[in-house]
Amino acid sequence: MTLDIKVDISRCKSVAVGAEHGIAPAELREIAPRVEAAHEILAQERRDGDYGFYDLYKAADVFDDVENAADAFLAKGYDNLVILGIGGSALGTTALVTALKPPFYNTLTKRSRGGHPRIFVMDNIDPVSFRQMMRVCQPKKTLYNVISKSGSTAETVTQLLIVVGAIEKKLGKDAVKDHLVVTTNPRGEAKSLLHPVTDHYGLTEFAVPLNVGGRFSVFSPVGMFPAAMLGMDIEGMRAGCEAMDRRCSTPSLMENPAYLRAAVQYLADTRKGKVMSVMMPYSDALRDAADWYRQLWAESLGKRVSLDGEEVYAGQTPIKALGVTDQHSQVQLYREGPNNKLFNIIEVRRFEKTLRIPQALESIPEFDYLRGASMNKLMAAEVRATMDALKESVRPVSRVVLPRVNAHTVAQLLYMLEVETAMAGRLYNVQTFNQPGVEEGKRIARALMAPKSE
Ligand code: PA5
Repeated sequence: MTLDIKVDISRCKSVAVGAEHGIAPAELREIAPRVEAAHEILAQERRDGDYGFYDLYKAADVFDDVENAADAFLAKGYDNLVILGIGGSALGTTALVTALKPPFYNTLTKRSRGGHPRIFVMDNIDPVSFRQMMRVCQPKKTLYNVISKSGSTAETVTQLLIVVGAIEKKLGKDAVKDHLVVTTNPRGEAKSLLHPVTDHYGLTEFAVPLNVGGRFSVFSPVGMFPAAMLGMDIEGMRAGCEAMDRRCSTPSLMENPAYLRAAVQYLADTRKGKVMSVMMPYSDALRDAADWYRQLWAESLGKRVSLDGEEVYAGQTPIKALGVTDQHSQVQLYREGPNNKLFNIIEVRRFEKTLRIPQALESIPEFDYLRGASMNKLMAAEVRATMDALKESVRPVSRVVLPRVNAHTVAQLLYMLEVETAMAGRLYNVQTFNQPGVEEGKRIARALMAPKSE
């Protein structure tokens, strides 16, 4: 069975949903040279080292460091790993945990977790949940990993202050190095306010390359140290990235899955009024991959000015949904509300488990069609039914099929979506890799927190 993930845009085409809502062959032919030209620019920028996300999976020395450090920390037998971080520092890890660890992972015994710690990704500053986490994850049994590229994000720094205060109070200053790991900007190349924290306590520190933005950093130590601590198949992920990198190395629109998806989404938005992009995986394991993608797509493409300095207010609004759950919440709107959305349905060909529906409640003949079948078959039928129903309502669907959910296929998916976003940025002609709108919010929050002078 091949592990390659598959992209299918046939249900986005005009032949499927009509020319008003679907992409015509002529439109794909027309955009192909633009995609090829953009590929040349991206490839040159990659060679120049402008964007490091493409090559993260190749950094063998970084993976060695991360895995060696994880082994050393695992030997200390922590019960909990707590991630302190927000946005790109948190969403990748959450996506990987949900995809690659068993459901309800934190509720399993340590033995069933393979001796690995429970995981808590704290990406908010809600005092109720943070306080509760501090109760559940006592410093003595916990390793905290503070992740902030800049080292100055107020939310993350607040979490750090609380955690350091608690470790010092309960275990003493000398114990901080055994309970806190820092992931931040590289030394010498950029400043981070976390560098002095590392120096003060003698902490383990990982660097996120300067040319890798937070939301593109999942395959750096940002996502890979937690992955190693949880015993994920890192080599499988690296192989998945490599396989997708190979597939995405061609400038050809029809052969490059990331470029094809980027072009379709761009055309759907700018020519067919599909100003929203729904990602709806039919798999609980992939629900947080949709959340991770939501940030990637929103923060990368939502830009006021173009690369030429013109006001463009670009960007398609990403929406996360979950099949089949949201069939009973959103699909009414999706089928009969405004036809302004493109649907990205993520399908899993083979689930890791099969669940048979037993011969129960036989006195009710109306359940006959379910008895003896499997939950897997019902899931497959529901995906098909939703896609067919959307087609009937002339709603375009772009489909991604994962042969199964594992480290290899999930890495392919995330890597493809990163390359897709990079290409989409070129098509929208915006700066994909910055986030001035976020930075401005951070600055204002800091100013509001500063003590007022009389
Ligand atoms: O993608 C991004 O760059 C952002 O979402 C950042 O990850 C987020 O703002 C957190 O920033 P930092 O890692 O500097 O704390």
